[in-house]
Amino acid sequence: MIIDPGNTGPSEASDSNDAASGVPPFGLHSHLTGDLFSPQAYSTVGRDVKGSGIDKIFSLLDRLDRDIVPLVAGSPDPHLLPLETLGKLSAEMYESGDPSFLNYGVVDGEYALRTFLAAKFRDEGVPVDEDNVTITTGGVQGIDLMCRFLLDPGDPVVVEAPSYSNTLACILNHRGEIVPVEMEYDGINIEDVERQVKLFAGRGRPVKMIIVNPTFQNPTGITLPLERRKQLLDLAHRHNFVILEDDPYRDLRFSGAPEPLLLALDDGSHVVHTSTFAKTISPGIRVGYVIAAKGVIDRIIMARSTIDNGTNVPAQRLVYAFCRGGYLGPQVERLARAYRTKKEAMVSQLEASFGHDDRVKWTNPEGGFFIWLTLEPEVVTEDLLGYAMAEGVAFVPGSASERSLIFLALSTQHITSACLFRPISLAILDLSTTWLAMRTFFRTPPLTNASASSTLAQVIPTAPAANCL
Ligand SMILES: Cc1ncc(COP(=O)(O)O)c(C=O)c1O
Repeated sequence: MIIDPGNTGPSEASDSNDAASGVPPFGLHSHLTGDLFSPQAYSTVGRDVKGSGIDKIFSLLDRLDRDIVPLVAGSPDPHLLPLETLGKLSAEMYESGDPSFLNYGVVDGEYALRTFLAAKFRDEGVPVDEDNVTITTGGVQGIDLMCRFLLDPGDPVVVEAPSYSNTLACILNHRGEIVPVEMEYDGINIEDVERQVKLFAGRGRPVKMIIVNPTFQNPTGITLPLERRKQLLDLAHRHNFVILEDDPYRDLRFSGAPEPLLLALDDGSHVVHTSTFAKTISPGIRVGYVIAAKGVIDRIIMARSTIDNGTNVPAQRLVYAFCRGGYLGPQVERLARAYRTKKEAMVSQLEASFGHDDRVKWTNPEGGFFIWLTLEPEVVTEDLLGYAMAEGVAFVPGSASERSLIFLALSTQHITSACLFRPISLAILDLSTTWLAMRTFFRTPPLTNASASSTLAQVIPTAPAANCL
């Protein structure tokens, strides 16, 4: 555990008597820095519990004492969060004289919010009512619960490669096996999905579930076209697996026409839909939802009684007041306009830097938060991250099996139409070796803080200096 240096000064509790008695001054030394008496004290799940890779980068960035442009995660630009409206609605709630929102809520989720969502999904062609909707603590809770309900140890789950890192952690934490199938520019390769499904069926371990983020996927920005949606559904029906449609970016469309929901194309038996208000209203509010057959919803509700006893009630009321008050539509339009500007700024800088070089390719998403870059020849992009952070920017590198991939989140506040950074001269320096040294030339001073550098060194492999310009 790292103790915040800000808390290490002498405190009122740390007098000389404490020192004499051997009692460490409060905040200076904790006796809780270790672990339980033995790893065996934990269950198998507890021993091997997995977190999110991206969250790790985020918490690191949070600790650094200089700004790093975080092109890292699906975090909204804070300036676009509806502070004033939520403040006003919140004040109305607290001043209403009705304290019911401070009491326990129903585990199912607020009835009014579930009714609102059911109507929204009916408008999208899904014949549901409020009994098919439950509110979760963020979208990720829905994914976690589906893994909990469907997976026995070793059960294979097909995922898009790359995928949202928390989804992968959910599968592992529920002892499932991740079966990655490569993303293409038009979504997951369905023939490869079928190949994997047959392979695992042949081994006597049928695939239980595929998790897809079909619209403006995190982290590639790719949308699954209609034809592939239909093929995927057909596969799910023929081989009897569940499609978890995790779709939090769907409403953030800048251009083009939406594809139908997988949930709308299905007959209600093979698709579970998860989403969240994190991208359209606020991630801090932690309100998400699941839309599914009633049997699934009932299980989720029962499980929630022992997990968190339901989602924060004031947060749900606030979200509902926001929707009922007619603020959601204009907010989504405002966000789509703003993110479109950011996307265009980023794409035009990519054009300026790499337009002449067909070894660098990138996606041009019609919505959402992400752009995906592919570099050739093969490069260890994790190592490039070290260079980039020294220049004041963080991106998400591809994993060991996705060595040449870079994912850029365009939602950050730092990207504006006037762009605070120089042309993303993600300048590639030495194409003759397997190293592509990338200079990411943002207008931020180089990393000078020694403690920041050493903290970085713990998690980010450094590339040989000879390859760094
Ligand atoms: C694809 C995807 N699914 C789910 C989530 C989780 O949403 P929430 O923050 O509401 O838990 C995210 C958040 O980044 C995401 O990108």
